[in-house]
Amino acid sequence: MFVTFEGIDGSGKSTQARLLAEALAADGRDVVATREPGGTEAGERIRELILSGPEIAPWTEAGYLDSSLAYQGIARGLGVERVLELNVHAIRGILPDRTFLLLLDPEESARRLREPGDRIEREDDAFRSRVAAAYEELAASFPERIVALDGTRPPGELAQEILEGVRQHS
Ligand SMILES: Nc1ncnc2c1ncn2[C@@H]1O[C@H](COP(=O)(O)OP(=O)(O)OP(=O)(O)O)[C@@H](O)[C@H]1O
Ligand SMILES: [Mg+2]
Repeated sequence: MFVTFEGIDGSGKSTQARLLAEALAADGRDVVATREPGGTEAGERIRELILSGPEIAPWTEAGYLDSSLAYQGIARGLGVERVLELNVHAIRGILPDRTFLLLLDPEESARRLREPGDRIEREDDAFRSRVAAAYEELAASFPERIVALDGTRPPGELAQEILEGVRQHS
């Protein structure tokens, strides 16, 4: 089963990915945890380059599916259709079986991000608002795959609901 976590900066993706990986491993399942961009030595170096570079073109930023559709397709205005088209070839039709979208408003996101952050995290509130709205638009477009959750709920409670969703699916 292929599970992804989406949401704006600080919405809890890393936290939930870790909790799910731990719970599934405790169930005795083989878990491969990764992140995008990143996950391999080359991938991590590309991540560093993309997130730290001062000037990166929106098309260069466009990575794996949902975040690219939200950030570059909608928030940066490249267009969902065109970014989807770019992705279709790269992902060879491999879509997540389930995507958990952690909803958080831009103000709470800003509160959770302590440090100045990377190039994307330094974007302004208007950009964060566009991304948040873009994610809600995507959730409405892919209702079978994307499960939207209130990212302000306690992490343990979210983790339990996510784990149940994954167990039911597989
Ligand atoms: N449900 C939650 N309620 C309150 N705080 C949370 C919750 N989930 C995560 N946090 C806190 O918010 C911060 C960001 O969490 P996390 O790193 O998991 O988010 P992220 O979506 O991976 O962020 P990034 O986009 O920067 O990678 C951390 O300090 C984390 O402890
Ligand atoms: Mg993270």
